[in-house]
Amino acid sequence: MPVSGRTAVVTGAGSERGIGRAVAHRLARDGWSLLLVDVDDDGVQRRAREVGAELADGASVVGLACDVTSPDAVAAAFREAFEGESPRLPPVVGLVNLAGIPSPTPLLDVTLAEWDRVMAVNATGSLLLVQEAGRRMVAAGHGRIVLTSSVTALDGGGTFSKSAYAAAKAAVLGLARGAARELGPHGVTVNALVPGPVDTDIMGGALDDERKARMAGGIPVGRVGQPADLAEVAAFLLSDGAGFVNGTTFSVDGGMHMH
Ligand SMILES: NC(=O)c1ccc[n+]([C@@H]2O[C@H](COP(=O)([O-])OP(=O)(O)OC[C@H]3O[C@@H](n4cnc5c(N)ncnc54)[C@H](O)[C@@H]3O)[C@@H](O)[C@H]2O)c1
Repeated sequence: MPVSGRTAVVTGAGSERGIGRAVAHRLARDGWSLLLVDVDDDGVQRRAREVGAELADGASVVGLACDVTSPDAVAAAFREAFEGESPRLPPVVGLVNLAGIPSPTPLLDVTLAEWDRVMAVNATGSLLLVQEAGRRMVAAGHGRIVLTSSVTALDGGGTFSKSAYAAAKAAVLGLARGAARELGPHGVTVNALVPGPVDTDIMGGALDDERKARMAGGIPVGRVGQPADLAEVAAFLLSDGAGFVNGTTFSVDGGMHMH
């Protein structure tokens, strides 16, 4: 199947300086058709217009506003893109789930409302996307799923977010491993990206030079990550050649956490 006849779903694609933006552009350049999803409607429509200018011949892009914590909204987005008499996009073959929120609140001050929201977006959102995409991939006998954890899941903090985020991102690791085991026999690989600090706005706004330098001090390659560093790895994990890479905790952190 030519890659333009396959769709990759990218969540969290609406952010102006986020990893999802870099992934969407990278996959468009690789020839994928794209379903871009974000709770930020304006952002995701902007991204779809941008990426639309870069698509390969025969590829399409659709941007949909969707809260990944809502089973109904996620199901509706997939129905709109992939079902009906004339589906808007070719079958889903890839998923890069990047929608996420931080939680810098110290453990002893975390309210149940914050805990629930952090778990809902980061962990439950991952589950809903895996189920919605995974059902279609299993039926087709082929698929590539990339979930997004964090070095915070391994270290318990140390950059910006703290325990609630660490717990939610650790749940993503367990989900990725379980999904890799259960969906692998059906031709679907599932891996977890584990970024170190990346130069986006998720850590309380744009990182200034002083914060970047401080964070870089704990990173052997001597710099924080850029969204393109993650896009490169996501593109590889979605590729045909990555079929034997399954269930990994794929660190992209400059060597910050070696395991
Ligand atoms: N930047 C980092 O340092 C870093 C490090 C480790 C992991 N991560 C993870 O990488 C992913 C991308 O982060 P980023 O740095 O690009 O952040 P970002 O804030 O730029 O992007 C996150 C995107 O998720 C979207 N989103 C939030 N809640 C949503 C919801 N309920 N439904 C749909 N979309 C929603 C936001 O609108 C935003 O566009 C996140 O999962 C984040 O936790 C980031």
